[in-house]
Amino acid sequence: MADSDDRPSVIGRRSFLWSAAFAAAAPIVSEATLARAARASWLGQVPPDAVLINANENPLGPSKAACDAIAAIAPLGGRYDRWDENDKFVDLFATQNGLKPENIAVYAGSSEPLHYSVLAFTSPTRSLVIADPSYESPMAAAGVSGASIHKIKLGAEYAHDVKAMVAADPTAGVLYICNPNNPTGTITPREQILWALDNKPKGSILLVDEAYIHLSDEPTVLDQVAAGKDLIVLRTFSKVYGMAGIRCGMAIARPDLLAKLQPYLQNSMPVTALAAARASLEDPDLVPTRRKWIADTRVETIAWLQTQGYKPVGVSHSNCFMIDTGRDGHKVIAALRERKIYIGRIWPVWPNAVRVTVGSPEDMQKFRVAFKDTMDTSAMAWALGARVQPRELAGMGGTTFLS
Ligand SMILES: Cc1ncc(COP(=O)(O)O)c(C=O)c1O
Repeated sequence: MADSDDRPSVIGRRSFLWSAAFAAAAPIVSEATLARAARASWLGQVPPDAVLINANENPLGPSKAACDAIAAIAPLGGRYDRWDENDKFVDLFATQNGLKPENIAVYAGSSEPLHYSVLAFTSPTRSLVIADPSYESPMAAAGVSGASIHKIKLGAEYAHDVKAMVAADPTAGVLYICNPNNPTGTITPREQILWALDNKPKGSILLVDEAYIHLSDEPTVLDQVAAGKDLIVLRTFSKVYGMAGIRCGMAIARPDLLAKLQPYLQNSMPVTALAAARASLEDPDLVPTRRKWIADTRVETIAWLQTQGYKPVGVSHSNCFMIDTGRDGHKVIAALRERKIYIGRIWPVWPNAVRVTVGSPEDMQKFRVAFKDTMDTSAMAWALGARVQPRELAGMGGTTFLS
């Protein structure tokens, strides 16, 4: 059963803690840091009427109950020792999911435990195996631990190719599975994840990122944690629960696996986040209502794109999807930005595909108009061999837009 590495030893513990502190000090690459880096390169302010569909955020924000819980607990925020809030939240999540409280470690978002899991279970001799394209954050953490990275192309239906991932390296430390996947929103069926769990290299763990699981109808693999398997499941309140700026997430695993992340942890949770997360869990309608609201907008937007002849990549079950633009995705992103529509990034493996987050119906209506205009204009400019400069680069000796 428990075949993961048995580190650190008692003798090496002190130096391990030093290196853990050093490694944890390395920056965590997350959707937030990537969005911030993109904003810095935009050379200017984001206009107040901009449509922000770039960072897989939820335009609904926290629920009313979550906001009320924040307001109610704020006056108690003068105290450090509010562990009872942590315990109340953990007990509720454990009860709702057939887990024990000791299976749950709470963090300010899931970026932290994602980063720490890769630091704890990869090394120069234990690699990271990841799908391509997938969420980049684990690769950044592998850069810190000195692990080599095996990128495995997505397989049929843009699911993770679990057979190729398992075969990639017999000494792998972490196999990262993002379900639904960021950026494609595509699903990897549960039986394939279970197959990977049964067949993964000895000593490795599966890191199953369920940041977007509530947006799909897919079953979770949390029951595998309860069954004592070698996996860490990541959850966040940044997506369906709309709490990206409030910060709450979890690593869910066997206590011995969670203990390996513990030395990296630097801080305690804000009580406001814990109270908001608990209030969100207490509302049984929140997830199904929001899932439907986002799915309806996604389905409508993608249907429109298809009727216009544009090509979505795979079938998304999430709050983001990719479109193959048939031209340099960077240029499409820049042209949309000129029209105050801020979409996500590209992944090097597919330079022509751009990621779009599902915003509100109004956001997506504006996106449609701007996207069609961008594609028509750039197609014409392309055909004429024109060289168009985005306004933000004009007069700055900037590069040409279409060349
Ligand atoms: C796949 C995936 N995992 C984890 C996260 C981390 O989110 P947070 O740190 O806000 O919980 C994100 C953020 O977008 C994500 O896309």
